[in-house]
Amino acid sequence: MNHKEALQHNIFKVISKSAAELNLDSYVIGGFVRDYLLQRGDAKDIDVVAIGSGIALARQVAKNLPNKPKVQVFKTYGTAMLKLDAIEVEFVGARKESYNEDSRNPVVENGTLQDDQNRRDFSINALALDLSEANFGDLLDPFNGVEDLEHKNICTPLDPDITYSDDPLRMMRAIRFATQLGFIIEKKSLDAITRNNERIKIITNERIVVELNKILESKIPSVGFLLLEETGLLKYILPELTALKGIDEVEGQKHKDNFYHTLEVVDNIAKHTNDVWLRWAALLHDIGKAPTKKFSKKVGWTFHAHEFEGSKMVYHLFKRLKMPLNEKMKCVQKLVFMSSRPIVLAQDVVTDSAVRRLVFDAGEYVDDLMTLCEADITTKNPKKFNKYHNNFKIVREKIIEVEEKDHVRNFQPPISGEEIIKAFNLKPSREIGIIKEAIKEAILEGEIPNEHEAAFNLMIEKGKALGLKISD
Ligand code: CTP
Repeated sequence: MNHKEALQHNIFKVISKSAAELNLDSYVIGGFVRDYLLQRGDAKDIDVVAIGSGIALARQVAKNLPNKPKVQVFKTYGTAMLKLDAIEVEFVGARKESYNEDSRNPVVENGTLQDDQNRRDFSINALALDLSEANFGDLLDPFNGVEDLEHKNICTPLDPDITYSDDPLRMMRAIRFATQLGFIIEKKSLDAITRNNERIKIITNERIVVELNKILESKIPSVGFLLLEETGLLKYILPELTALKGIDEVEGQKHKDNFYHTLEVVDNIAKHTNDVWLRWAALLHDIGKAPTKKFSKKVGWTFHAHEFEGSKMVYHLFKRLKMPLNEKMKCVQKLVFMSSRPIVLAQDVVTDSAVRRLVFDAGEYVDDLMTLCEADITTKNPKKFNKYHNNFKIVREKIIEVEEKDHVRNFQPPISGEEIIKAFNLKPSREIGIIKEAIKEAILEGEIPNEHEAAFNLMIEKGKALGLKISD
């Protein structure tokens, strides 16, 4: 088969010419070819394998490009990379490769194209297009990758025990591709992942998180998390989630399985947002339930203050996985912490003041919180389902109404401490705090509007009640 049409970008002509000048063969391989054949839209990255030095080829290509881009060389791996607008082109020399037992550092030897294809992760990622001038665009597919693309099949070129053991991250990559592409991991491979699951421990957290994010960003993330659980990988990566598995029963009273509930919530939220942090919040919103679970004869199963516990766990989890400890983490923490607030609100008559307090506490995250809570409705009782959704609709409308009127989302007190000091000729004292709190409470309760004049009058009234004298 020839796929010249995949190689219309000028870069391929330049690589072809450069390789001829160095008297070596080169191929585009991996994700670019796979995504082209799957018609997955514009590919970002191009992987090129040279039968010879990948670094030398990269340098020659840079020389032949009009803008002479910088070549970044990674000596340890024998690879080189250059950027062409938004596209990253990575060059590697073909190698027969084996890995040390406990590290990712490869032992490199020169190899043929076939050697190189053998050591790739999956048949669908071992597809190569010839870049030589004579055979430009010819497809080289030694493991029937095209057939596997058609049959939506994920399988390894070599014995899966070898492929996964060579680089255990591939176990997660298999699951990630299955989730992203809607493919099936063949049984032999799935069994090998289960057998080798413990070897995921040697992989850095940064690489694991890349795959977790890609699973979370997929259309139906639960596919990936179920596979991670089924193969035994999840307990090494996110033990907080596996701890949610199971249903306990005491004296005929059961609680729901919070692991499967969580996955339902993640799938629900994936229909409404592409924001990966909001998806993380859905994944972690119930993790505090495992350590707080209790049974009492009086009330049955409880998860007292699980939201608070969960928000603390978010920090430790992010830290362990080397995820950013920045405002994104704070957003996930806040959403977990507040995850039960709207549902409590929606169980009852929705009052203005309750909504005003919700907006005040959630601040800039209030819309995300509503999205999370709507996704959290997994009841199979259609009456309850409709009631909660209708109430959430009312809450959303009221949020807009209350916000237009009172601007409590990023609350700025209408009366400053200084103004209180001036009005009563005070030194810094606790009365200032008391008056400020009374004004805030009155606004949240809807007793006064969030306006200076009303707040000023209340300040005078409260000050007098505290026995303060107005200064002249
Ligand atoms: N590869 C591999 N084993 C890995 C990682 C990558 O064999 N652990 C090979 C595969 O042939 C893969 C190619 O290197 O196609 C490029 O890897 P990468 O850019 O990480 O992934 P892509 O397959 O391009 O997919 P995506 O862009 O979706 O991550």
